[in-house]
Amino acid sequence: MENIIQIRNLKFSYRPSRQPAIREIDLDIRKGEYIAIAGLSGCGKSTFCRCLNGLIPHFYRSGVMKGSVTVDGLDTRELPLYEITQKVGMVFQDPESQLMALTVERDIAFGPENLGLPREEIRARVEEALELVKIAHLRERAPHELSGGEQQRVAIASVLALQPKILVLDEPTANLDPAGAVDVLNIIENLQVQKKITVIIVEHRLELALQSATRLLIMHDGTLVFDDKPEKLIAKDIIPAEAYGVQMPSLIQLFTQLMDEGHSFSQIPFNIPLAASIILSELGSARSTSE
Ligand SMILES: Nc1ncnc2c1ncn2[C@@H]1O[C@H](COP(=O)(O)OP(=O)(O)OP(=O)(O)O)[C@@H](O)[C@H]1O
Ligand SMILES: [Mg+2]
Repeated sequence: MENIIQIRNLKFSYRPSRQPAIREIDLDIRKGEYIAIAGLSGCGKSTFCRCLNGLIPHFYRSGVMKGSVTVDGLDTRELPLYEITQKVGMVFQDPESQLMALTVERDIAFGPENLGLPREEIRARVEEALELVKIAHLRERAPHELSGGEQQRVAIASVLALQPKILVLDEPTANLDPAGAVDVLNIIENLQVQKKITVIIVEHRLELALQSATRLLIMHDGTLVFDDKPEKLIAKDIIPAEAYGVQMPSLIQLFTQLMDEGHSFSQIPFNIPLAASIILSELGSARSTSE
């Protein structure tokens, strides 16, 4: 499959005199991947996101960037920021900072209007975005009156109206309660499935992120220390996950403990349905051997 993002020898410091926030990253991301990024506070996750959406180098001009980031075949250093924004949609932790119009509908229309798109096209994009994140019923509401989870969905819809191929979300659920977080993550998963959007999400709570992510990146001190399928995390000698600020999902803890106690399973599950089917099949085979 084609690489939608290609990163070569990326390094970045916010000031020439400062320690680099990105020391060295090389990475290829294929179209349609769903990638979770975790790592300790200050390890460079947000900085990395800014390298993907062009804020670095275009906005952080006093910084020093080395190496290259290619998005959809184009080098971000050579593209103006507004063109990168159409390819890479960015959603932040605090949705309120992204919402400014008087109604949800106006907010979603803002991006396409700025692109100077025809009125019919704008209307169609707004409708599609409202449907995709299931907020058509909120269209007339004022964004600042909505709940955190609703606001985050509006922020995602506003970004989707630009029809990006890539969606980068920097801790989009950090300010949400557990139900709101699950809701937003379900919406994101749907987008990835329905629209084949490439998703890159910074999410500390692996428990949540790994419901859908098929690839996990762990950053430490400006580099990638883990880049693999989430299930590889379980080979626990590979990385000291806790030292990198990664909390093992409790399902994984449960299954590794059972394995330590001598039980064997065909695989270790990341979500409840899979866990249930593994346990049921174990129970089934245990029952048939005892009969
Ligand atoms: N705007 C900025 N100007 C100068 N230095 C910055 C800026 N933003 C981040 N840094 C520094 O760059 C390094 C990486 O920060 P970054 O925000 O990317 O980490 P993070 O992994 O996103 O952390 P967190 O989990 O707390 O959000 C840190 O040392 C931080 O102090
Ligand atoms: Mg951050």
